[in-house]
Amino acid sequence: MNREKEFKNQLLKWSKDNTRKYSWRNTKDPWKIYLIEIIAQQTQLDRADQYYKKFIKKFPNPIDMSKSTKREILEMWSGLGYNSRAVRMFESSKILAKRSFDTIYPHFEILPGVGPYTKDALLSFAYDEKVITKDTNVLRIFTRFFGVENPEKFILKNEKNILKNVHSRKFNQALMDFGAKVCTSQKPLCNECVLESNCQKFIQYKKQTQQAFKGSDREIRGKIIKYLISNENVEISTLNKTLEIEGSKIKPIIKKLANEGMVNIKNKKLIEISS
Ligand code: ADE
Repeated sequence: MNREKEFKNQLLKWSKDNTRKYSWRNTKDPWKIYLIEIIAQQTQLDRADQYYKKFIKKFPNPIDMSKSTKREILEMWSGLGYNSRAVRMFESSKILAKRSFDTIYPHFEILPGVGPYTKDALLSFAYDEKVITKDTNVLRIFTRFFGVENPEKFILKNEKNILKNVHSRKFNQALMDFGAKVCTSQKPLCNECVLESNCQKFIQYKKQTQQAFKGSDREIRGKIIKYLISNENVEISTLNKTLEIEGSKIKPIIKKLANEGMVNIKNKKLIEISS
C-alpha cells in the first residue's frame, strides 16, 4: 500500500471513534459553514460553538443578518475578540443578501474575511469538492507524516489522489480532530498515534535517539549486565573482546557498576553480578 493510501485509511479508521460532534459538522448550508469558520478563527472550538448557536438562531440566513446593525452584531460578538471579524461577517451578509453562495461559487474570496482556508472549507464542507483544508493543524500533520518542507505544495499535488473515494468533509474533519487531539503542535501523543510507524518525523526522531544511544555509557552498561546474567566469573579482558567495547570506556563503567553494588569484582580481573 502506498504511503498516501496508508495515511488516509489509518486516519479514517481513527476518526470513527474520535470525531468531535458539533451541529454544524453535518450541514451543507454554506451560510452555516461560513459563520462557524469566521467565528472559529483564533477561537477554541467549544467556545466558538456557543457563539455560533447564538448567531445562527438569530440569523438563520444572510438576509436576516443584513437587516441587523453593526452595533447589534458587535454586541453579540462581545467576548470573542478580533472585532474586525464580526464587521467582515456583517459586510458579507449584505453581499449574500443580494447574491447567494451558489451564484458566487466558487469565488467565495469576494466575501470579506474569506481567505484561502475559508474558501477551501466552503468548497469541501458545503460543496463536497476534493480539496484539503490547509489550516495550520492540517499543514503540521502533513509536514510531519510525509516529511515535506512545503506541505501546501505537497497537498495541492496529492489532494485529488488522497481524496479519491472519500468525502472530503469527512477526511478534513478527521484531519482537524487528529491535529487537535493527537498530532498537536506541543507534546504530540506519538505513543498513541496510529500513524506513528510510517511518520517521517517519528522515524527521524527514533534514528537520532538510537544514534545517540549507540556507544553511550548506557548502552555499554546494558550490554555488560546482559552478558553477566548468562555468564559467571567473567574476565574483564574477555568482556572487552566479546562485547567489542573500547578498552578506555569499559573501566570507569565497571567501576561505577561496582560502586552501585550491581557487580562484584574479584581479584581485580573477574567480574559477576553481585549476590
Ligand atoms: N470542522 C469544520 N470546520 C472546522 C474547524 N474550523 N475546526 C475544526 N473542525 C471543523
